[in-house]
Amino acid sequence: MFKKFFGLFSKDIGIDLGTTNVRVYIRGRGMVISESSVVAINLRNDQIIAIGTNALKMMGKAPSYISIIEPLSHGVISDFEVTEKMLKSIFEKVHRDTFTLIPRPKVVAAIPLDVTEVEKKSLEDVIIQAGAREVFLVERPVAAAIGVRLPIQESIGNLIVELGGGLSEAAVISLNGIVASKSLKIGGESLNKNIISYIREKFGVLIGNQTAEEIKVKIGSVFGNKNQEMRVKGRDLIKGLPKEVLINEIQIREAIMPLLKTIVEGIHETIEATPPELVSDIYERGIVLSGGGAMLRGLDKMIQKRINIPVLVTDDPATAIIRGTGLVLEDFENLRQVFVPSSRD
Ligand SMILES: Nc1ncnc2c1ncn2[C@@H]1O[C@H](COP(=O)(O)OP(=O)(O)O)[C@@H](O)[C@H]1O
Ligand SMILES: [Mg+2]
Repeated sequence: MFKKFFGLFSKDIGIDLGTTNVRVYIRGRGMVISESSVVAINLRNDQIIAIGTNALKMMGKAPSYISIIEPLSHGVISDFEVTEKMLKSIFEKVHRDTFTLIPRPKVVAAIPLDVTEVEKKSLEDVIIQAGAREVFLVERPVAAAIGVRLPIQESIGNLIVELGGGLSEAAVISLNGIVASKSLKIGGESLNKNIISYIREKFGVLIGNQTAEEIKVKIGSVFGNKNQEMRVKGRDLIKGLPKEVLINEIQIREAIMPLLKTIVEGIHETIEATPPELVSDIYERGIVLSGGGAMLRGLDKMIQKRINIPVLVTDDPATAIIRGTGLVLEDFENLRQVFVPSSRD
């Protein structure tokens, strides 16, 4: 009786602490926060000035007393204190918005495959210190598969490829567990870095990360041929002055293709490590792409052509993981088999 009452008012939370974006889900309400994983800190008093998009806007433009920090790298915490500050500020916002009287939520959080015990503990600790009562961890591709409603509880081979900002993870899931997988520390941010190096080498012009992101989203592709062009502004490395260059789709493809080939190889290896019965399911049912990186134009067709299995990009791919943590909260008892053992046990 009391438990039921408590359940009605407690605000259980799902968290996707991604390399590029942090997302928060509140049970019964849905996704309430989707922000860039960036924090602006005032070094004079160590206080947060801004998080998310507002902090991102300051990047490359802030005076020396403001530090712009991306506290996650390839899906794991690289700056514990800043991650804690960011989560605390997010939790406070959630409390303000929901007027909840019970301040310590139960949290389901997504975690990369292949993390070390130290990395896992660090994620659990940061969430507890930010105010959670209890933390349950789900591997990112499993959360994504739940989010896109693949039948992971059945004895069927489900192949999902989750393409985030700092990680690309392929996993075959059956009966609530991972049968074969591959985790690569390559993601959307690596594509941006390749675009930056390419433009520096080819044109002698230095561009910033946000410009690289814009180029990738506007004219980036890996299949088909529209040959779009785009004018890009950067700094001439020799003269030190602003310079505009005209770049095209083929050049950007040349810059990013090696990374995508590595991802395709990773998918290939995952399938090779999968038992034959499940492989035949995958041939029939296809490969599902999720994560923001799945929006790269032509990626589905490129993978389909190289692996020879149908490929489907899920709707709203970037929110697959957070929707998955949400579904786990809503159907907690039924889905609790998907949790990975805690480092606290
Ligand atoms: N249209 C697009 N084409 C290619 N990449 C995209 C597109 N939209 C978003 N992305 C990339 O998706 C990544 C963010 O995806 P997301 O799933 O939110 O990452 P994470 O969960 O790792 O923080 C970024 O690297 C971003 O550049
Ligand atoms: Mg993501």
